Amino acid sequence: MVNAAILGFGVVGSGVAEVLTGQGDGVRKKADELIALKYILDVRQFPDSPFASCFVQDFSVIEQDPEVGVVIETIGGVGAALDFTERALKAGKSVVTSNKELVATHGPRLLQLAAEHGAVYLFEASVGGGIPILRPLSDCMAANEILEICGILNGTANYIFTRMVQDGIPFDQALKGAQANGYAEQDPTADVEGQDTCRKLCILSSIAFGWHLRPDQVPTRGITRITLADEAYAAACDRRIKLLGRAIAQPDGKVCAYVEPHFVSLQDPLAGVEDVFNAITVKGNATGDVMFYGRGAGKLPTASAVVADVIAAARQLERASYRPWAPNRPECIASLDELDSQWYVRLAKGELEGERLTIPQAQPGESGWLTPAMTRPQLEAKLAGREVLAVIRVLD
Ligand code: HSE
Repeated sequence: MVNAAILGFGVVGSGVAEVLTGQGDGVRKKADELIALKYILDVRQFPDSPFASCFVQDFSVIEQDPEVGVVIETIGGVGAALDFTERALKAGKSVVTSNKELVATHGPRLLQLAAEHGAVYLFEASVGGGIPILRPLSDCMAANEILEICGILNGTANYIFTRMVQDGIPFDQALKGAQANGYAEQDPTADVEGQDTCRKLCILSSIAFGWHLRPDQVPTRGITRITLADEAYAAACDRRIKLLGRAIAQPDGKVCAYVEPHFVSLQDPLAGVEDVFNAITVKGNATGDVMFYGRGAGKLPTASAVVADVIAAARQLERASYRPWAPNRPECIASLDELDSQWYVRLAKGELEGERLTIPQAQPGESGWLTPAMTRPQLEAKLAGREVLAVIRVLD
């Protein structure tokens, strides 16, 4: 029997408590023979919670309790979460987390710290919510050279697009729905400006390519300026708008990684991914495309992934760990400016070379275009001096 402590009793932390103890609706009691929930750390009081007797407010109680074998960090961010993770690992306790910001930024050091202290640092829930992706990528695809990762990695953004298209509601109203469902981050800026997707892409890339790709090295664009008109132009050319994280291995060994909204053809399975679902296509040199699909956010899907890691940590400490990530390789990062793509452009007036798109609700003078393939600098040169309302890359 391994004793566990949860840090943070928010959406994910409370879901983990329910799944661990079998108290949630529809949750099978699977972990309770192996794991006992001993502590929950939170600055708030929860006197009416079924877990009221577990609450503590001082992390040193957990740190100094030799009975605690696994610490579950669901605080988020890189402040207290980093401090407590380091202290837990130094005390020889394994740490399981859903905290993508912490893993993407400090992953290599924390993996190293875990190895030095006979513990493991596991973070399956940090990417794709309930989708098993990190362990399959790390273990089951280990024989492959990874050629490309391309994924819908943020449930909030995908939920917003789905509500805009299916219900015809504007961006802000759709975001409120994502917040009400517990999908969005406390500050949803990270969801809608692409940083959350960027962090998840960095974790996937670091596992796939074996060296640490940092979030500040990944050009990132969000979705806040996308309108119902852009969705209508996408529909007019049999496409959907999706926020994608992509990491493409180049023939010279460099990696081109970026996050942007894209026009995605209806023939691509990514176009059919709706609501809070995420999907990640991984192209291996031996496997070809492998696709992972499931609920990318939400209390119980995320808690499911966390608890699976807790069970793995409790069962087989050494075999559960990820391979260490080599240090960052700035010389291996390819410039996004060299990537050729077609582009969707919406102009307030005038014409452009390419296929003209028409929608019934277009404003007077406005037009939508699909350009021939070119790099972004080439496109920007063509658009200089024009009144441009929107530019979105087309996924090839
Ligand atoms: N805010 C995140 C999302 C939660 O919407 O995908 C899961 O990481």
